[in-house]
Amino acid sequence: MSQVWSSKVTFAHGQLHLAGVPAKQLAEEFGTPTFFLDEADFKARAATWGNALSASFGQNAGNVYYAGKAFLCIEVAKWIAQSGIGLDVCTGGELAVALAADFPVSKIQVHGNNKSKAEIRKAVEVGVGTIVVDSLIEIERIAAAAKLAHKVQKVLLRLTPGIEAHTHESIATAHEDVKFGFSISSGSAWEGVLATRKHPEIEICGFHGHIGSQILSMDAFAVAADRLIEFLAKYRDEFGVQLPELDLGGGYGIAYLPEDQSLAPETVLPALFDAVQNACAKYKIDMPRISIEPGRAIVGPAMFTLYEVGTTKEVVLESGATRNYISVDGGMSDNIRPSLYGAEYTAVIANRVSTSTVRSSRIVGKHCETGDIVIRDIALPSDLAPGDLLAVPATGAYGRSMASNYNHVPRPPVVAVIDAKARVIVRRETEADLLGLDM
Ligand code: LLP
Repeated sequence: MSQVWSSKVTFAHGQLHLAGVPAKQLAEEFGTPTFFLDEADFKARAATWGNALSASFGQNAGNVYYAGKAFLCIEVAKWIAQSGIGLDVCTGGELAVALAADFPVSKIQVHGNNKSKAEIRKAVEVGVGTIVVDSLIEIERIAAAAKLAHKVQKVLLRLTPGIEAHTHESIATAHEDVKFGFSISSGSAWEGVLATRKHPEIEICGFHGHIGSQILSMDAFAVAADRLIEFLAKYRDEFGVQLPELDLGGGYGIAYLPEDQSLAPETVLPALFDAVQNACAKYKIDMPRISIEPGRAIVGPAMFTLYEVGTTKEVVLESGATRNYISVDGGMSDNIRPSLYGAEYTAVIANRVSTSTVRSSRIVGKHCETGDIVIRDIALPSDLAPGDLLAVPATGAYGRSMASNYNHVPRPPVVAVIDAKARVIVRRETEADLLGLDM
């Protein structure tokens, strides 16, 4: 089967099943739209990334930090803790989820280009393992917070290695004209090093680079590793000590369409190892501990969204051809990625088998906006009708986590399914929840 579905999705008796539970039963019990999370698949992916880092880097393996921004809730944070990997949080809110899940604080890494003083104080107070420093101003804030808490805070400096990874502009982060981190080429990274070293309350452990998201080739990662390791060598040459850590960020791409090939951990880690080893030899330094931060690659394929078809209508195009508009009961409020990044998805009928001829179709949401498109162009059976269930795979990353209440649409729940049992781990929002904010 194509890589868009999680491992426990099967098609049998005319229906999609997740971990043995048929789609119609899931829809009846939990309603639509709903994000269904393949619990075994998620846990296996988290463990596989952790094991793959150790297998490739051995004693130089640092941590795999799951990037919580892709999707985070208390239950998922507990699974991450059980799998033994770390957690990357990038706001006080994500940190609050981690703390509510009793996530081991030493395995939390804190990101963000504009961490507030309060967020930094909280992170230092609870004892997070690492803060990834993004600016000079932040160095002063971390030092002040650590002084207040009588602690020494471990940090990495986030560097922009000056690479344009081949991905959508708003998710490529390591070229020079971006808000994140210290630029290596402009000298600001060195300023960051000097500023950090002034503070006895801060222990600089190494550097961090994240080049973008949904990247499908390893070349850019290798170039980034080279530049960061060159910078580690510069530090060693200047101060006579080598920093122990390098975090190469996340960004490993997944399959959204049947023909896509994801970047698998068994491919990524050996390639990263080679790149790191070559660069260490080139710049004559010892291999640092290597950490990575996959988000999408762990949760993306582990969820699908189940929608119910509400209305359909045929539109005659200028060319004379026709298009079937299929409206589902969600849309841009539960998946903003098609409108925001032009992201593409696929879909299947989940509740029955159709033998009708296929026709050019567009799956749209229920929002009051023309751009509210889930799938711009897809061939679907012409007998698709109100009440049918459509499953859209690979919606686990940046789906529920970027959901909004646009048009006062309550956000969908997340239901975890494992061994033929389904349970709600994030409940559906209600109209009462929405009204509850109005004073
Ligand atoms: N580490 C850092 C510092 C990051 O900024 C990110 C993602 C990750 C790790 C995880 O990247 P991943 O492995 O998930 O690609 N909303 C966009 C993606 C934004 C990514 C932001 N940073 C989307 O829906 O495609």
